[in-house]
Amino acid sequence: MLLSWLTGLGATLVFLHLVQKFLFPYFWQDVCYLLKVTGYGIRLEIFRRRGELVTVLDKFLSHAKAQPHKPFIIYEGDIHTYRDVDRRSSRVANVFLTHSTLKKGDTVALLMSNEPDFVHVWFGLAKLGFVVAFLNSNIRSKSLLHCLSSCGPKALVVGADLLGTVEEILSSLPEDITVWGMNDSVPQGVISLKEKLSTASEEPIPHRHHATAMLKANYLYIFTSGTTGLPKAAVITQMQAIKGSAGLWAFGCTADDIIYITLPLYHSAGSLLGIGGCIELGATCVLKKKFSASQFWVDCKKYNVTAFQYIGELCRYLCKQPKRDDDKDHRVRIAIGNGLRSDVWREFLDRFGNIKMCEFYGATEGNICFMNHTGKIGSVGRTNWFYKLFFSFDLIKYDFQKDTPIRNEQGWCSSVKKGEPGLLIAQVSAKSPFFGYAGNKKYTEKKLLCDVFKKGDVYFNTGDLMVEDQDFLYFWDRTGDTFRWKGENVATTEVGDVIGMLDFIQEANVYGVAVPDYEGRAGMASIILKPNRSLDLEKVYAHVVAFLPGYACPRFLRIQDKMERTGTFKLQKFRLVEEGFNALKISDPLYFLDNLKKSYVPLTKELYEQIMLGEIKL
Ligand SMILES: *[C@@H]1O[C@H](CO)[C@@H](O)[C@H](O)[C@H]1NC(C)=O
Ligand SMILES: *[C@@H]1O[C@H](CO)[C@@H](O)[C@H](O)[C@H]1NC(C)=O
Ligand SMILES: *[C@@H]1O[C@H](CO)[C@@H](O)[C@H](O)[C@H]1NC(C)=O
Ligand SMILES: *[C@@H]1O[C@H](CO)[C@@H](O)[C@H](O)[C@H]1NC(C)=O
Repeated sequence: MLLSWLTGLGATLVFLHLVQKFLFPYFWQDVCYLLKVTGYGIRLEIFRRRGELVTVLDKFLSHAKAQPHKPFIIYEGDIHTYRDVDRRSSRVANVFLTHSTLKKGDTVALLMSNEPDFVHVWFGLAKLGFVVAFLNSNIRSKSLLHCLSSCGPKALVVGADLLGTVEEILSSLPEDITVWGMNDSVPQGVISLKEKLSTASEEPIPHRHHATAMLKANYLYIFTSGTTGLPKAAVITQMQAIKGSAGLWAFGCTADDIIYITLPLYHSAGSLLGIGGCIELGATCVLKKKFSASQFWVDCKKYNVTAFQYIGELCRYLCKQPKRDDDKDHRVRIAIGNGLRSDVWREFLDRFGNIKMCEFYGATEGNICFMNHTGKIGSVGRTNWFYKLFFSFDLIKYDFQKDTPIRNEQGWCSSVKKGEPGLLIAQVSAKSPFFGYAGNKKYTEKKLLCDVFKKGDVYFNTGDLMVEDQDFLYFWDRTGDTFRWKGENVATTEVGDVIGMLDFIQEANVYGVAVPDYEGRAGMASIILKPNRSLDLEKVYAHVVAFLPGYACPRFLRIQDKMERTGTFKLQKFRLVEEGFNALKISDPLYFLDNLKKSYVPLTKELYEQIMLGEIKL
């Protein structure tokens, strides 16, 4: 009797286990992950209610006290301990305290490449409660001036290697911006911060000067090319910085990890997730000025790296390196990033061994983020009902040709069926707020979709098309006026404006075209010449290279007689994007950017085939 009862119970348990395994295979992973994340959220809320918000800076200072000798940043072989960084950032703060008239809450722009001084200046300014605006170190001239005017800084701090860029625009800067250079010798009109630092005091800055420990206080501006127009300064509040710093921890990193950061610090991935994440854990990071595929594993071995941050391109470049016998001989156990495609993901794991790839999705200014915490190859995250309890998002039907969400006769949007691509939107609420952009209110409003499913609802438009399949979310494509190339967003209107400055060009229509074996899209400018003017290929080359960052220079030109006036501008673009750069099919003249010849050259059929076969690098 007992025996049969026990067998019955056993069978039931096995049955339940199998049901869970086959119907809900990710159940326990989901539960553990959500418990971890909600636990964090609750702790944050408790601290907030008690008025004891611990900012990322506070956390850093407590590590500097508790583990002063632990390496915080390793850069080009030099070790900067927590105490070193604390002291040097205090020097920066003391320089500004004694030599400037800036007040708490003022904005200071920072134009620097990846180097320890980026962090020193950032923290030093934060110690005085300034809002720091990170500028993309690739941008120049007009775009740089645009970025500066959109965040209204009182001062600009420039790294030694970027002084030349600033010299070009010095005369066009507003009078009230003081410029500080991190070099002994600086151009006229710039103050040498380096010289002032050498004599500045290391005295800690009293806590009352620090940035306001309020969740919604502005902490940073980070520039993003959203789905429309020029780069915009996304407002990063203390709360977003704290949440970002929990990313590495949520994926399972610990204080013993050594994190390799090759992504630029002026993006949120490098700064908020990377440096911030390292501080949350009290871990060490190895900072690299610029990603190098050939140095990558050498560095990982040399510094015993256990974790790194990636974007899809980075893994692809690593896979393209010549194979070596010791490819699996390293200590890296985890990688965190986004944009990794399934084929590269598989190849990467095959080649470099069992590394836990943690793919996440989240826009700098967005109010939603997904994490692949289950290890489903190719997916950016989970989307089951469990998840939807915490985050309210939807995929809605989208008209690819007109480039807008589809609304029915009553004006409502509708969700797509499972398996179909739709526009990812996330409801804006007290729980998932959207803080918008600095300066222009118009930009902020453009990112919002109103009256989506009912009167008065508001959603953040991510501009990304996604597909949901069996409770996993997959990235599909990007909408609107930007495309991604080499890990950066390229704003088509910005590129179009720059090309339009040339006196022989009537109109330029810029878009991205897909190239096999490349992430994102390569830029193409479709151009109409002014009547009776001829195309000067060298001049176009010299012009785009002078005015645009490398990643934004169009790889291809297409010369058209006239813009199609039937249908909308967007319809025309849709067709052009479809046609790509196929020299075998397109009868318009096509040109290709040749950096060696310093000009655009005709895109011959041979050249086209070489690009398709991957024999020519873009
Ligand atoms: C930085 O300083 C060094 C020497 O002090 C000088 O040689 C160099 O030209 C300076 N760089 C710039 C961009 O001014
Ligand atoms: C890396 O680990 C090995 C073995 O634990 C150790 O001998 C070596 O000193 C470490 N290297 C660094 C740079 O910490
Ligand atoms: C994300 O997916 C990969 C797929 O291999 C898996 O290894 C990794 O564990 C996943 N991430 C997390 C945080 O579980
Ligand atoms: C262009 O050149 C043609 C012939 O050379 C001339 O008839 C025409 O008026 C010119 N158009 C413009 C806009 O200058």
